[in-house]
Amino acid sequence: MSDYIPGFGNHVSTEAVPGALPIGRNSPQKPAFGLYAEQLSGTAFTVPRHENRRSWLYRLHPTAEHPPYRRYDGAARFAPANDAAPLAPNRLRWDPLPAPDAPTDLVDGLVTMLANRDPAELEGVALHVYAANRDMTDRVFMDADGELLFLPQAGRLRLDTELGRVEVAPGQVALVPRGVRFRATLPDGEASGYVAENHGALFRLPDLGPIGANGLANPRDFETPVARYEDEDRPTEVVQKFLGTLWTTTLDHSPLDVVAWHGNLAPWRYDLARFMTINTVSFDHPDPSIFTVLTSPSDVPGRANADFVIFPPRWMVAEDTFRPPWFHRNVMSEAMGLITGAYDAKAEGFRPGGVSLHNMMAGHGPDLASWRGASEAELRPHRIEGTMAFMLESCWPYRPTAHALAHAQLDYDAVWKDFPKAQVPPRG
Ligand SMILES: [Fe+2]
Repeated sequence: MSDYIPGFGNHVSTEAVPGALPIGRNSPQKPAFGLYAEQLSGTAFTVPRHENRRSWLYRLHPTAEHPPYRRYDGAARFAPANDAAPLAPNRLRWDPLPAPDAPTDLVDGLVTMLANRDPAELEGVALHVYAANRDMTDRVFMDADGELLFLPQAGRLRLDTELGRVEVAPGQVALVPRGVRFRATLPDGEASGYVAENHGALFRLPDLGPIGANGLANPRDFETPVARYEDEDRPTEVVQKFLGTLWTTTLDHSPLDVVAWHGNLAPWRYDLARFMTINTVSFDHPDPSIFTVLTSPSDVPGRANADFVIFPPRWMVAEDTFRPPWFHRNVMSEAMGLITGAYDAKAEGFRPGGVSLHNMMAGHGPDLASWRGASEAELRPHRIEGTMAFMLESCWPYRPTAHALAHAQLDYDAVWKDFPKAQVPPRG
């Protein structure tokens, strides 16, 4: 039997022990084996049915049984409070995070780069990067502030969650829902990458409009893990992110003790190579919304709280067209990362593992070398190979953390320096 069930947002029923799932009801008077029935809500009880996401968990111990939380003093660069100093409208870019120089697990290896709303507002997204070289042992992490989209850049992650095991490699992404506890181990010994934290409406597949019923990320390619549990009575630390601050408590057992579950709120993974890319076969670079993998809507139709967008390998065939992304200014704010290869609008300086920020109305586009190359290239069919960039586009302008501001590249503006002036014939 596969360890994964295909499909996006499906109602799944899965049990690691036959007979653990109740039949015909969610909360029987006496669940099988003395398990505890517990509902995990990802949306308010009363949102429309097609938006409603929740799962029922059948576990060895109720989550309610835990000592008080106290402040956690590790992970000093993960979700530090934003200061409210005026933010310059400058474009910013960062090199990859250096490898840790001490044993560091995923939680302590997380560094917040950009964030754009207080988690208590239930809107906005944050972009974190991580670099880790040690498994999480005898501890788990839980984020009450939002769902977590993992984008490994180097090294695989094994995410043992309450609802099952998700293994994810560079080129794949994985999502852990808000509130679901998990432990990350590193099958390759070290790992680095990105985490998008979504405080707002749950990520979903975008509407396809005139594209039709198929294309972009197809639902069948998302994989949800089957139930898998640990029966371990030894101290386990729970680190929780709540309202932007980290807290800790210690249980006398592993909380990854869900023997069976059913519902439509669950972790998943997705291979970005499965993305069916749409692009022009005539002229003009389309708007990058054609590359949307997932969207988190805001209250304004079409204006995303967050769009997760990728720039995958693809054919370029447009005629009489400047093929890379054009110069533009955007009312939306654009955070980008690079998983592998090079991005077609930046010849250099944007390295795998790096981050860039073009906030609301910042002028940006191809750098000088990319512009010159694309302006003079012979427009034969050309395949862009070996690349995977992503964008986390949001209607809320991002604010870099103090750490990010202190570590930004000093000369990013220079990539748009010395463009030759256009030569218009004199009037008259
Ligand atoms: Fe842009």
